[in-house]
Amino acid sequence: MPHPSLTSLPAFADLQAHYAHASQWQLRQLFAGDPQRFKRFSVEAAGLLLDYSKNRISEETLALLLRLAQERDLEARRDAMFAGEKINATEQRAVLHTALRAPRGAGPTLDGQDVTQEVHAVLDHMRRFSEQVRSGQWLGCSGKAITDIVNIGIGGSDLGPEMVTRALRPLVHPRLSLHFVSNVDGHDLDAALSGLDPETTLFVIASKTFTTRETMMNAHSARSWFLKKRGEADLPRHFVAVSTNTDGVRQFGIDPENMFPFWDWVGGRYSVWSAIGLPVALAIGFERFREFLDGAHAMDQHFRTEPLARNMPVLLGLIGLWYRNFFHYGSVSIAPYHQDLSQFPAYLQQLGMESNGKQVTFDGGPVGIDTCPVIWGDVGTNGQHAYFQLLHQGTDVTPTDFIAALTPAHGLPGHHAVLLANCFAQAEAFMKGKTADEVRAEMQAQKLSNEQVEQLVPHRTFPGNRPSNMILMEALTPAALGALIALYEHKTFVQGVMWDVNSFDQWGVELGKVLAKNIESELEGQPRPELHDSSTNALIARARACLNL
Ligand code: F6P
Repeated sequence: MPHPSLTSLPAFADLQAHYAHASQWQLRQLFAGDPQRFKRFSVEAAGLLLDYSKNRISEETLALLLRLAQERDLEARRDAMFAGEKINATEQRAVLHTALRAPRGAGPTLDGQDVTQEVHAVLDHMRRFSEQVRSGQWLGCSGKAITDIVNIGIGGSDLGPEMVTRALRPLVHPRLSLHFVSNVDGHDLDAALSGLDPETTLFVIASKTFTTRETMMNAHSARSWFLKKRGEADLPRHFVAVSTNTDGVRQFGIDPENMFPFWDWVGGRYSVWSAIGLPVALAIGFERFREFLDGAHAMDQHFRTEPLARNMPVLLGLIGLWYRNFFHYGSVSIAPYHQDLSQFPAYLQQLGMESNGKQVTFDGGPVGIDTCPVIWGDVGTNGQHAYFQLLHQGTDVTPTDFIAALTPAHGLPGHHAVLLANCFAQAEAFMKGKTADEVRAEMQAQKLSNEQVEQLVPHRTFPGNRPSNMILMEALTPAALGALIALYEHKTFVQGVMWDVNSFDQWGVELGKVLAKNIESELEGQPRPELHDSSTNALIARARACLNL
């Protein structure tokens, strides 16, 4: 049965009527009129505090959005995901990344089997292997301990482990350096391999399908690099695989004994909790990796059981929808005020945009409403000196998520207070802005002439009323990071349900892959101009002239 369109639901019409006056509200005035606003619009769960008070919402807005979610059957669809129903309809798959972080024996069952049994069998293997490598028991072919780990993967087989390993940098084993190679551009692998010793390097070839062109090419090149110095017999100590494709792994020449499997019900962008997280376990140790899983599990429990009105991912998802479908804001920015979260915006790009960058609903009809906004961002305070100008005074409004840890992992005096002050100040400035009268009074106090004042007033005025969320944690621990990622996963799920798109397929990446295959053969073989337009043919001819010199 096709779901009714979002716009046909009764609460949608009510929200539209509500928007007509809500769009006139000023955040400044909302704060001035309600000293309890922070208390009213903040929630804590799984070690995270979400302050959503600096949004253009009232209790009525939220009540209407929650009604819309109920009319959309959000709770039933959430429960279907947790229960292992095949909600990824275009691929006929269950969606069970939540089972990857559940305690042993907690279910759910899939084809009559408790999936956490298989999950924990692989986790046990990861534990053994990571302990051996970290303790120096797992030695390279010449008897030396492993010093460098090169993860070769792309998309979900790269972004998660890289982002998490960087985020937890202070916990990385001092003997180990982690490298991540994803791009088919040989400069990536070349840079990673420079200075590495094959006798102390471990390659993790990570690919759900074990067919992805970039990963396979990099893996073969890494193998050739290794074989220049060492023999075939030495490979097993230096190459392991993470995949769902045992045959592909075997054909590549990796012993399935050294393979860490996962399952088709784990989407690539939801896979850091599976064996795809092996580099994380190697880097920070299995116990800390388990804490990471536990943090995510705590957020799962919250999402699953907390009433919608106090449910963090639900609130984030619905407020995002409010801006996207009523205010028509086209992008959201992510501002982690933590250098170790520098890869988090890129991680969220894949999570959000590959999941919900869709234009048809489950039944294949046009979605008829804007779906995922562009997701982008960078760490604070760097962004302040680059693109925040546009966020404050540009013609587009960009809702922003600020993320910060209250305590640092370093001991440098003073830095953290300055960092947090900037984070809170930016959110305050977005919200309050600066009126022309305030600007005028300030400049008059500086004794500027009336002419100077009037010339500068429009430039120095800030419109304000720019929304943001603030997400705080005590410290960037494995558990807090796990909860943070799971929060955004569930936010993505909530929005996918509301827009009625399948958040778990990614057909949009296929066309380019197929065309690249054709062009690849034409660059070095016979051109086939009948396949292309004049632009593509000219580009191919230009490249052939250089490549075949
Ligand atoms: O092309 C997109 C994609 O399929 C992503 O969804 C996925 O994370 C990435 O490629 C890598 O895929 P694999 O792990 O199968 O190599």
